Amino acid sequence: MKSMPLQLESYLGKPVEALPTPALIVDADALEHNLACLAGYFARRKARLRPHFKSHKCVTLARRQLAAGNTAGITCAKLSEAEVLVAGGVKDVLIANQVVGKPKAERLAVLNHAATVRAAVDGAENVEELGAAAVAAGVAIGVLIEIDVGMRRCGVPPGEPALALARKIAATPGLRLDGLQAYEGHLVTCPDFEERRARVTDAMQPVAATRRLLEAAGLPCPIVSGGGTGTYEITGNLPHFDEIQAGSYALMDCAYAKVSPMFHNALFVLATILSSGRGFAVADVGLKGMGNEFGLPVIAGHPEARPRSIAEEHLPIDNFGAAVGEKIRIIPSHGCTTCNLHRRMWIFRRGMIEDMWPIEASGCLE
Ligand SMILES: Cc1ncc(COP(=O)(O)O)c(C=O)c1O
Repeated sequence: MKSMPLQLESYLGKPVEALPTPALIVDADALEHNLACLAGYFARRKARLRPHFKSHKCVTLARRQLAAGNTAGITCAKLSEAEVLVAGGVKDVLIANQVVGKPKAERLAVLNHAATVRAAVDGAENVEELGAAAVAAGVAIGVLIEIDVGMRRCGVPPGEPALALARKIAATPGLRLDGLQAYEGHLVTCPDFEERRARVTDAMQPVAATRRLLEAAGLPCPIVSGGGTGTYEITGNLPHFDEIQAGSYALMDCAYAKVSPMFHNALFVLATILSSGRGFAVADVGLKGMGNEFGLPVIAGHPEARPRSIAEEHLPIDNFGAAVGEKIRIIPSHGCTTCNLHRRMWIFRRGMIEDMWPIEASGCLE
C-alpha cells in the first residue's frame, strides 16, 4: 500500500495538527517578525547582513531573507550548499569554510561561471589548489582569509601570518583577495550581554589591525565578514566589519531564545503522543528528527513538562499528562541540526497550513 503523499494540496488550509508526525513546522508570523527585525536593524548600519543558509538549508527561505533587504548575499557552510543556492538563483554566496582538495576546488571554480561564490582560506596549499582550478576553468575565485579570533577552529593568527597569506593570494593567478573572515563562535552564547560585548569587541580588535596591515601593504581588503545571531548588535557595530553572518535568527531554537530574545521562536517539531500514564508521556520523535547538542527540547505551551532524555525515535516527557494521539509542538534545542534532518518545512499561520517549502540542502554535508 502507498503511504499518503506529502503534498501541499492535501494539507493546504487544514490545521497544522493534521500533518503526519514528526513534521517540521514553521510559524509564518514569527518568521516574518524575525526577518523584518534584523533587516530593519541593518537598514540603519554600515554593515550588511549575509544570512547563513546552514541554519535552515531551504532556498525559499534564503530568498525571503534576501527580499527582506540590507543583505550582501548568502553565507553557507558547504560547497554542496553553495551548489544548491546557485541552482536556486542566488547570485552571491560566501562559503564560510575552506574548500579543500582538487575535485572540490574544480567544482567551486565551475560554480563561479554562474555566480560569485567566495570561500574562506587559511593555508598556502589550499590557495594554490584553488588558484589552479580557477585558471583551468577560466574564472577568478574570490577568497577571504579566515582569522582565528580565539575559537580555535579554522583560521590563521591575525597580523603577520595573515599578511603572509595575503601576499601569497595576491601572487596566485586565478584568485582575488576579497578580504577577511572572523567568526567569534566561542563567544556568541555568552549569557551576559555586557560581558559578551566586551569579550567580542576585544577578540575582534586584531581583525581591524590586520585589515590596516594588509591595506598598508597595498593589499585591499574590501570585505570583512563574521558575527552571528548572538553578536549582531556587537560585531555589526564594529567599524571594520562589513557583513554579519547571522543564521539562527530566522527560525530560532530554545538555546538561542536565552541569548537573543528579540527574535521569536518560529521552528517546532510537531509530534504525536504514543504512550501516556505512569506520570509521563512519550512523543514520537527522537534523534532522527531533532538535534540535541544544546540540550533537551522544550514542549511549547507546557512549562510543567520535562523531557527526560532523547532516544532514536522516542522522547519521554516527565510531569506531562498528554493523551495518546495528542499532537504537541516541540521547540528543539538546536534548529540548524534539526532542519538538516528534514526534507520539508510546513508553513502555518494562526494554526492553519499555508505553504510547504522543500529543504533542498538537507543532508548536503560535503
Ligand atoms: C562561520 C559562521 N558564521 C556565522 C555563524 C552564525 O550562525 P548563528 O547565527 O546561527 O549563530 C556560524 C554558526 O555556526 C558560523 O559557523
